[in-house]
Amino acid sequence: MAPAMAMAETFDIINYAVHQGHGVKGLSELGLKSLPNQYVQPIDERIDMTTVIDEHSIPVIDMSDLSDQKVADSICDASERWGFFQVVNHGVPLKVLDEVKESTYRFFSQSAEEKNKHSKDNSPTNNVRFGTSFTPHAEKALEWKDFLSLFYVSQEEADAYWPQACKDDALEFLKSSEIMIKKLLVALTQRLNVKEIDEEKENLLMGSKRINMNYYPKCPNPELTIGVGRHSDVSTLTILLQDQVGGLYVRKLETDSWIHVPPIEGAIVINIGDALQIMSNGRYKSVEHRVAANGNHNRISVPIFVNPRPNDVIGPLREVIESGETPIYKQVLYSDYVKHFFRKAHDGKGTVDFAKI
Ligand code: OGA
Ligand code: NI
Repeated sequence: MAPAMAMAETFDIINYAVHQGHGVKGLSELGLKSLPNQYVQPIDERIDMTTVIDEHSIPVIDMSDLSDQKVADSICDASERWGFFQVVNHGVPLKVLDEVKESTYRFFSQSAEEKNKHSKDNSPTNNVRFGTSFTPHAEKALEWKDFLSLFYVSQEEADAYWPQACKDDALEFLKSSEIMIKKLLVALTQRLNVKEIDEEKENLLMGSKRINMNYYPKCPNPELTIGVGRHSDVSTLTILLQDQVGGLYVRKLETDSWIHVPPIEGAIVINIGDALQIMSNGRYKSVEHRVAANGNHNRISVPIFVNPRPNDVIGPLREVIESGETPIYKQVLYSDYVKHFFRKAHDGKGTVDFAKI
């Protein structure tokens, strides 16, 4: 009998990857010749390359002159038509981007024991979470991804709880992307008739932030599984830094076709999340996306999820409704919305139905 088979019979994959903290990185480094069954996705959830089209890609927007109305318009147009775009000349120093990528490798290169100190069961705080897959207990098949998720509360809280291996660089990425995020939100809300982002609105749009570090290790039989399954983000906006490997696919709005998001050195990917789709009463689109597993390369990404605060009530903005639109979403407590997302496996655009009238 082949050694891989003998091993699969005696070796508890889930215990090793999920409970002991080795993650899929640990599985990858065992050099398995074939994908463990637990990671084999139903055919509908795998990426069917015949549905990937290459005649379009998402817009790439140069943010260096936002006083030019054409630039603001292209941000709004992209958010209506694609829900996704990339930005260059965004003002976040390239050094900060390089350092947070290095930090991601530094964190994941640690031992399983060290990383597992931050697991759901072991971490002294809910704001720091190391894990693997998405919700291993709710999924029929697991996803080929490890992650560290850091909810930002304050410098002091980060000093106390965030992993030393990446804390400073993660905080620096959060801090130095702040101005870009505000500029994007000013441009986007102007089209929603918001004249000024006052403190209350600022809190509603970007009152809390979460930074994730994702690690997608090299995978045996990548075509049988997925890095991240079809989902839309629950954020207002997501700011995503990816490396040069590629593998992020975005659904072309109102079609069954998918578009690859090509890595561009120094660029940042921006996407609209469900919260802004709801607040804009459906004008801006939170679009489904997924990540392929890769047979040849490890991939990392670092998203910042810009969110309302957990206790905020979100719904179509007053300014949108006052301009005469009929609301298609109700007011929901943001933390209820997020709980709904995490209770289930990834299911494409299913989450937003929770807020539909
Ligand atoms: C996510 C996500 C994409 C990527 O974390 O929500 O969609 O490229 N990530 O890692
Ligand atoms: Ni996402």
